[in-house]
Amino acid sequence: MTRILVAGGTGLAGRAVAAEALERGLDVRVLSRHQPARQSPAFVPGAEYVTADVVSTAGLQQAMDGVDVVVDALDAKTGKSRQTLSTGAHNLTSAAAHAGVRRAVLLSIVNVDQSRLGYYRVKTAQEQVYRGSSLETVIVRAAQFHNLVAMMVSVAGRAGLYLAARGVSFQPISVPDTARALVDAAVGPQLPDDGMISVGGPEVLPMEQLAHAVGYSRGGTGRVLTLPLPGSVGRYFQQGRNLVPGRAYGTETFAQWLVDSTG
Ligand SMILES: NC(=O)c1ccc[n+]([C@@H]2O[C@H](COP(=O)([O-])OP(=O)(O)OC[C@H]3O[C@@H](n4cnc5c(N)ncnc54)[C@H](OP(=O)(O)O)[C@@H]3O)[C@@H](O)[C@H]2O)c1
Repeated sequence: MTRILVAGGTGLAGRAVAAEALERGLDVRVLSRHQPARQSPAFVPGAEYVTADVVSTAGLQQAMDGVDVVVDALDAKTGKSRQTLSTGAHNLTSAAAHAGVRRAVLLSIVNVDQSRLGYYRVKTAQEQVYRGSSLETVIVRAAQFHNLVAMMVSVAGRAGLYLAARGVSFQPISVPDTARALVDAAVGPQLPDDGMISVGGPEVLPMEQLAHAVGYSRGGTGRVLTLPLPGSVGRYFQQGRNLVPGRAYGTETFAQWLVDSTG
């Protein structure tokens, strides 16, 4: 049976990868620094949990024992992201290569190398580590998750105000749909030609419309304030570089996700 190691498998995306892989009958090991309590939403029954740190490398080599495929769903939400994503990728791929792991799959972001946003630069460096490793590698570049888009438009939600950036659209994808793409890449018989696939959700929608939808779903009037998004980050989004309309892999719409997440 194929054994998958999900690095960051207690996180939002990682736990969905663990659940998807188990559903397909794979053997799943989850790597993180902290183990989830059994009652926690991060706990996926049937997965094996190991403690390791991809930065310090404590426990890392042991975690690779008997692993066929590594899926990297690591993240760090603070300034530590460079260490976790970039140094962590280097340590993770080195340990995997040393253990004879067959394939590595990295979760990344659509056209991440076309933005100068600091976090995107770190993700680009992380991709480069994977491309330069001796492992058979697939990079899965996903569009923004439904959760992220909802969070962005709701930063002033407590005041009943929902925000949108002028001229920006999203192609939000659900986390479970993204997890399907990652597990496809982990077990698929063929590698994509350039070692990379991009996946988006089923619809491209203006940010104003997404903001209205979130506002209404939270019982408000759906009042939306549209603001300019300046600079190179603004250009990245206004030029639609975050979109992959020809790669609408996800099936769960933003509206369906809103009903499920608020209902
Ligand atoms: N949000 C989006 O719209 C979007 C879109 C496309 C791609 N992505 C990508 O999806 C990936 C996953 O994001 P997420 O939001 O699911 O992450 P998350 O919920 O923050 O989870 C991060 C995971 O990494 C683990 N981790 C962090 N530091 C570690 C370390 N030093 N050693 C071992 N494990 C460590 C965490 O567990 P511990 O803290 O217990 O170690 C946790 O399991 C990111 O790379 C992101 O760029 C996100």
